[in-house]
Amino acid sequence: MAALNRRSFVCGIAAITALGFTKEGAVAATGIKTLANGKTEIDLKLNTALSKVGGVVQLSINKYGKVAVVRTSKAANGFSVINLSCPHAGVNVKPKNGGWVCSPPGHGSEFALNGALKTGVASSGLRSINFVATTKAVTIA
Ligand code: FES
Repeated sequence: MAALNRRSFVCGIAAITALGFTKEGAVAATGIKTLANGKTEIDLKLNTALSKVGGVVQLSINKYGKVAVVRTSKAANGFSVINLSCPHAGVNVKPKNGGWVCSPPGHGSEFALNGALKTGVASSGLRSINFVATTKAVTIA
């Protein structure tokens, strides 16, 4: 096992804070690694929620804030990675009815599970974040 020096430990903790379970059942990501190039890797073996289409895990990454990884199909690259900050005024959306809702203090916009805008005052869907997926991991840019 590689030894961590204090700086890399503190940076890793600062960069990523996994979120807890929510009332609606979104699961905190586990097995998260910050790579040397600054990208974030999520081990799919440790995040079993992502083995099923419709599965979601949430995490927080310093450069994006709260992020969700959504399994959108069984294909190897069948994921969406979305920023959970509402594009209207930046309130974090919450999971609801198989999608996302911008509850108060937000203004009620609703989004599909993959972040597409369904209804409300937001003028676009939740922001997509670039990623690469393999059978073993999703790596967020
Ligand atoms: S901040 Fe989300 S609808 Fe206004």
